[in-house]
Amino acid sequence: MTVLVSRFTESFGGAVRAPGDKSISHRALILAALAVGRSTVTGLLESDDVRATAAALRALGAEIARGGDGAWTVDGVGVGGLAEPETVLDLGNSGTSARLLLGAIASHRMTCFMTGDPSLRARPMGRVTAPLRQMGAEFVARAGGLLPLAVTGPEEALPIEYVLPVASAQVKSAVLLAGLNAPGRTRVVEPRPSRDHTELMLRHFGVAVEIEERGASGRAVAVEGYPEIAARSVRVPGDISSAAFPGVAALLVPGARVALPGVGLNPTRAGLLDCLAEMGARVDIGNRRSDAGEPVGDLVFHGAEPGALAGIEVPADRAPRMIDEYPILAMAAAAARGTTRMHGLAELRVKESDRLAALASGLASAGVAAGIEGDTLIVAGRAGPVPGGARIDCRRDHRIAMAFLVLGLAARAPIAVTGAETVATSFPGFAETMTRLGARIAETAEDG
Ligand code: S3P
Repeated sequence: MTVLVSRFTESFGGAVRAPGDKSISHRALILAALAVGRSTVTGLLESDDVRATAAALRALGAEIARGGDGAWTVDGVGVGGLAEPETVLDLGNSGTSARLLLGAIASHRMTCFMTGDPSLRARPMGRVTAPLRQMGAEFVARAGGLLPLAVTGPEEALPIEYVLPVASAQVKSAVLLAGLNAPGRTRVVEPRPSRDHTELMLRHFGVAVEIEERGASGRAVAVEGYPEIAARSVRVPGDISSAAFPGVAALLVPGARVALPGVGLNPTRAGLLDCLAEMGARVDIGNRRSDAGEPVGDLVFHGAEPGALAGIEVPADRAPRMIDEYPILAMAAAAARGTTRMHGLAELRVKESDRLAALASGLASAGVAAGIEGDTLIVAGRAGPVPGGARIDCRRDHRIAMAFLVLGLAARAPIAVTGAETVATSFPGFAETMTRLGARIAETAEDG
């Protein structure tokens, strides 16, 4: 087990490239695997989660290789061409891999077994198996719809119209991917827009996607079955969800300046930037452009004086646009002046860990008053450095680990994070990157 300790840091700055976007990396591999011919992917996130998707797609018949120049090639099998894997697909810690691949697999006439690590085995899969059942797939799962499970696809899948009960890009994507191998039109209606990387990537691969804004009743996304998907090249932008950690770290160190070029700025992902602006943080955005249909820009985060950031109210309807950023926002809130209330966070309970509980208890152990009321997280800011002196079990949750390591940079006594090896699921080399910028983060030798 890796234990990382982070300590008060007075000098922090430089330029770093954020790792490739995790969501886009999974989708690039999956769509390339469903295309005909050889696709090339550059900037792919080379993390445990994305490797899990690549390994599963290989087991399903695609050929995937990394070239010496860091570009990945994928020889696809074409829509409907996935083959029954000989053994169990193990998706490790990755909910996105499990849910998106269940969709892609469920409309194929074959049986497939799937499992994951203890964190993934505790996460709800019923949200994807419910619509996929309507499309004709059969599932055998553990009580509560948990992994491990087995899926058997029908002879021919049924296209459906499905109204999402929760705003979830993973569920939307699973249904759309299943719909690629079904006759006719498959439509998903989402109550609030969730990240639209699947839609953008489908279009990039030449698939017609119909998007209809339905005002108060949400947004409908439809695909027509059996498209011919042509191989493409994809350049994956930097992940705003990863850039957020060195970025917010910079805000917590007076005088810091951290540049993060080439970060994805898709509006369905950029809610954190709205919050930071409301708190009074200075984040410059320059050189806006587009890659594979995704908006991209260069970010520069500037350190604030102690207590300069203000606590804010974060409305519930912002949650889908920044669902993975609450751990790091809670750390900014801990060092801000005044109270921050983050509303509408029920989904945080079913992430890699119960993030609501992990944040509230972790902050309390670091001397920050934090509480949960319903699905609202409340953090009483310390208007400067926090007491610290905590030991946080990150519960196999990469973002909980990284968030508390960032808080340690603005803590009077060190913050230790146990189980920190899990950061490799999304941000390989996180500690090294942060150390290069000046962060006092180090590994301690401990048994177990
Ligand atoms: C993701 C969607 C989100 C997010 C996850 C990645 C995706 O999950 O939390 O890290 O790539 O589609 P939900 O769909 O469960 O909200």
